[in-house]
Amino acid sequence: MRELIDKLQENKALSKYEWTVLIEGRSPELAEYLFQQARSVRHKYYGHDVYVRGLIEFTNYCRNDCLYCGIRKSNLKVSRYRLSKEEILSCCETGYSLGFRTFVLQGGEDAGYDDSRLCGIISAIKTGWPDCAITLSVGERSYDSYKALHDAGADRYLLRHETYDAEHYAKLHPPLLKAADRQDCLWNLKKIGYQVGTGFMVGSPYQTAGHLAEDMLFIKDLDPQMVGIGPFISHRDTPFAGQSSGTLELTLFMLGLLRLMIPKVLLPATTALGTIHPKGRELGIQAGANVVMPNLSPTTVRKDYALYDNKICTGDEAAECRNCLERRMESIGYHVVTTRGDSLNI
Ligand code: SAM
Ligand code: FES
Repeated sequence: MRELIDKLQENKALSKYEWTVLIEGRSPELAEYLFQQARSVRHKYYGHDVYVRGLIEFTNYCRNDCLYCGIRKSNLKVSRYRLSKEEILSCCETGYSLGFRTFVLQGGEDAGYDDSRLCGIISAIKTGWPDCAITLSVGERSYDSYKALHDAGADRYLLRHETYDAEHYAKLHPPLLKAADRQDCLWNLKKIGYQVGTGFMVGSPYQTAGHLAEDMLFIKDLDPQMVGIGPFISHRDTPFAGQSSGTLELTLFMLGLLRLMIPKVLLPATTALGTIHPKGRELGIQAGANVVMPNLSPTTVRKDYALYDNKICTGDEAAECRNCLERRMESIGYHVVTTRGDSLNI
């Protein structure tokens, strides 16, 4: 198995068969070997720096009904909220003073934020904090919509492809949503000039090593600037309630593989990883990740953006999260830095 990791390190690519064998054949010893290589690649390009992004979850209204997601439209137990432009700007103000130079606006697919409203918010942020990057994560939209948001000042876009395989995708989503449409969105975002992030859930229901292998091939082909992965975690009020969560062990292994496949990619150690294990984010960094995304949303709405059960940090003020993460990173010899943190994978 080590030969496959060496081959990946050298060629930055494997075949579908090799990916599958490697993922299925992983062991604690192999993982340690992988993480050592992944860390040395990460240190070569990004040193011990950890980039922070301030996450603003600005709406939990969603027209979609993804089977895994706690804010799916069929979940009538969710108390729905939308943040006003002023509330979003106030999150940015707090974030800026805490040293954030990237704001991530994330939300459900909410028709309440049409292009003109979102463009207004984006340009107001750009006017107020011109040295900051804006990342959007608001799902599937048309080419023209993505273009308008980019023209208004959005720099980056996060849209996980979730799973490349169309049949697997169909088991996780209602019939209207198609894997190919989501992938088309990613190609459009790239064409428009966004710094693009994709990704997938690890351990989603029905996922096999073969699916993960296809995810790796797709990501290699897309060659994104960022890849966000985290464990699937069930939500009690979804059809996947009671399904087992993705494991820490497999998520860390996939992070290490991603670092070797695209050495300069930005890789977050996600909140979901911190949710399934108290040291999940630290372990993610030690497996090759280099980004953390503390929450900047007002504490009054945090618990309502529950994509999965037991999400961490829902009661903490932005400053607490920021300081907590700084301490956590220092405890493993890494340092949170106050820069835009653009990807070197260009
Ligand atoms: N609406 C936007 C979109 O579709 O990209 C952004 C919000 S969406 C809730 C953000 C991500 O949350 C999804 O891409 C998905 O991978 C992740 N997610 C949703 N439900 C989850 C769950 N139960 N466990 C882990 N991650 C989940
Ligand atoms: Fe939010 Fe630790 S990161 S409290």
